[in-house]
Order: sequence, then structure tokens, then C-alpha cells
Amino acid sequence: MTTKFLLEESRMPRHWYNIVADLPVPPAPPLHPVTKQPVAPADLEPLFTRSLIEQEMATEREIEIPEPIREVFRLWRPAPLIRARRLEQALQTPAKIFFKYEGVSPAGSHKPNSAVPQAWYNAQAGIRKLSTETGAGQWGSSLAFAGSLFGLEVKVFQVRVSYDQKPYRRALMETYGATCIPSPSPETAAGRAVLAEHPEHRGSLGLAISEAVEVAATNDDTKYALGSVLNHVLLHQTIIGQEAMLQMEMADADPDIVIACTGGGSNFAGLAFPYVGQTLRGGRKRRIVAIEPVACPSLTRGRFAYDYGDTAHLTPLTKMHTLGSSFTPPGFHAGGLRYHGMAPLVSHLLELGLIEAQAHTQNDCFAAAVLFARCEGIVPAPEASHAIQGAVAEALRCKAEGKAETILFGLSGHGHFDMAAYTNYLGGKLVDASYDEAELAMALSGLPSIPA
Ligand SMILES: Cc1ncc(COP(=O)(O)O)c(C=O)c1O
Repeated sequence: MTTKFLLEESRMPRHWYNIVADLPVPPAPPLHPVTKQPVAPADLEPLFTRSLIEQEMATEREIEIPEPIREVFRLWRPAPLIRARRLEQALQTPAKIFFKYEGVSPAGSHKPNSAVPQAWYNAQAGIRKLSTETGAGQWGSSLAFAGSLFGLEVKVFQVRVSYDQKPYRRALMETYGATCIPSPSPETAAGRAVLAEHPEHRGSLGLAISEAVEVAATNDDTKYALGSVLNHVLLHQTIIGQEAMLQMEMADADPDIVIACTGGGSNFAGLAFPYVGQTLRGGRKRRIVAIEPVACPSLTRGRFAYDYGDTAHLTPLTKMHTLGSSFTPPGFHAGGLRYHGMAPLVSHLLELGLIEAQAHTQNDCFAAAVLFARCEGIVPAPEASHAIQGAVAEALRCKAEGKAETILFGLSGHGHFDMAAYTNYLGGKLVDASYDEAELAMALSGLPSIPA
């Protein structure tokens, strides 16, 4: 009985898939933060190199993956697809459960799928330095790794709460040669402004983005790299879903439900968009489910509106599900899911009714993660535990309804640097932090007004 489906290297996808080409309604354009007019490619040039701006605005369906990038990908790709038979047995479900495992990458998650191309395109353009932010530490480690391959200096602003919780993520970034700074920091005007009012501020992704953007915008030799949310990042991640489609064929199965966790939306888009695209081109309809934390519920509780991507309002305005750019989520363990907004493309798909969204508590997610670890051996990242919890809930529904559906979920990373969170959970110390409703209302009331 085969459980692990390994694709031959020669079948690794040669193109990224751009869902924009198949959408029935185009997404709303990003707007300039000052003029509030649609951004032109030149507006983005202080932050991004030209090839990445082209990808950000691309409308063609397929974009070729350059060979030097595929060569690096071969270090860990194609990533395995695994049937979770022991989990199925433990749940006594008639459902078949498959997962696509991205924790086999050097940094331990899906993030190098975009870090490698971003570093490569910047190096090709003669850029020597990159600035970025990291929530869980996964993106920072991935860009640090990618930077080391192509001779780029990488400066990472790590959200304070994660910097304190995960000292070994910082050590990993430094091992790859990057510099790691806790955010908010005194290095930038954005950081100094927050520290002046709240010296103990625990940080947020929105704030760390402001610091990293400021460094790129004010230094000619530095470009900015973002680990999620933007179209080109989601595009790079579609290698996940394209591989998974070929592997599901090898398993002689077709998913009825595709599930992934959502922070900014990149691993979800990576797994799900190739499936959504197939449906949009006349293929069968499937349920596509995004799972987010109850403590930071942008898709299920946020407003679909134009908002800034960062706290200091340096980024373009994008139309997305947002909790408001001034919203600071509580310090729960899935640091990579603590972002106030959701990728505009994922948000657009939710508005079009092409995907669903659910929110789960961190205690339920850790319970699912521990069950998964005891059945399948892999200790998941706290972010990825949300996808497991989503899959477990669907498998139990299948059991109650007596339905043998096929579930595919994304296991976006391992949790080897997150063992303090597991110690807390196993010691019964994990609280289901809920956000402050008054702060949410205030953050939403501060959404920018956009002329019609
Ligand atoms: C393992 C893992 N999964 C998921 C995420 C969430 O990001 P995204 O929604 O872009 O996939 C992160 C973010 O840091 C992560 O580290």
C-alpha cells in the first residue's frame, strides 16, 4: 500500500500558474498611498526589482520558472504528498486524507518557494541588499537562506514577540548570514514612533513591514522582499498545487476538499489556486477552505476594503479583507498568522464565492497537531496546525455523515523551532487569546476613505 507519493524531478513544474488569467472578474487595482490612484509600475520601483513588478501585474496564465531557480528547488523539490492513513484510522473516518508536505525545505516551510526566486531576480538586477520582516521566523530564515545562495545581504525585522519566543530562528537566520533585528526597533522612524509611545510593544507584522519598507525606500542599494500577500509571492507558491495535482493522480485520487491555513495567504494560494483555476476553466467544482486563527480573523471577521499593508502607511493600498492596519493581534503562537490583512487575490476569491473561510482556536489546533504528530510522526508548525484542525473537522463530519470524501490539506512547515509552544500546550498553559473587540472597531473605523 503506497502512502508517500514522490514525483520524479523531471516532472517538476516548469511554470508558475497565474490565476488572474482565469478570473471571471479582475481584482481591484492597488492604489498609490498618497494620490489614491492606481499604482504604475514605476511607483513600485523604489521597493521591488522590475521583473518582480512585472510578475506582480502579470495577466498571462503561465510564467516560466528560470532554470537557475529550478536548480535550487531540486535541493528539496518535488515535495512529498503523503496519505495520512494512521490519522484516518485514529479518527475512524471513511474520508481519505492526503497532505502536501512543505516542511522538507531547508528552512522548514513553503517560504523558500518564493524567497529563492525573489533573491535570484534581485541578484540578476545587480541588487546587493534586501530588507524584510518575519513573523514566525520562517520567512526570515528562508530569505536568509536564499540570500546566502546569491550573495545578497539580508536584514530581517523580526516581530518582537516571535524574536523572544524563538531564539533559534534568529540563530538560523544568522547562520545563513542575515542580520536579525527585533521590531519595533530604534533603527527606523516607524519603529521609533511606536517605541516612544509603547516601549514594551510586542510588535506586529504590519509594523515590521513598515520598518523593512522604510529601509528599502531610503537606501538606493536595498530592495524590499515580502513573504506573502502580494500577487508575485502567491504566484511563486503555485508550484505546490501543481505538484500536488500530479501526485494526487499518482495516488489515483481527486480531492473533494482542499484545505490550507492563511496568514497572508501564500501557502493557501499555492496549494489551492491551481485547483480553483481548473474549476474556472470548466473542471469540477471542489470545496476550497482557508483556515485562520480566531485571534486574528481577517477573512471571517475583517472588512473587504482598501487598506494599507503596514502600520506606518508606507505601502500601496490594496482591496482585501482587513482588520485595520492599526490592529495588533494578541501574542498567540502561530506568529505567521498574525497579520491584519489577507492577500488581495485570496480576498477577491472569497468575495466571488470561489473559496470558504473558517476560524479555529489555538488550543483546538494544537490538539489536532499533537494527534497528527502521534499518528504521522511530523511535528507541525503552529501555523500549519490550523490546516490539520480544518482537515480533522472535515474528516469527523464525513464520519458523522458516512461520506468517503477525499481531503487534501497543506502542511506548510514543521514545528522544530516551536517546541516552546508545544511545552506550553502540553503543560495546559495555552490560553485562547481573543482580540480586543474595541481595538478592532477602532482599527476598522480608521480605514482610509477612497474616492469613488
Ligand atoms: C509554516 C507557515 N505556514 C503558514 C504561514 C502563513 O503564511 P502564508 O499565509 O503566507 O502561507 C507561515 C508564515 O510565516 C508559516 O511560517
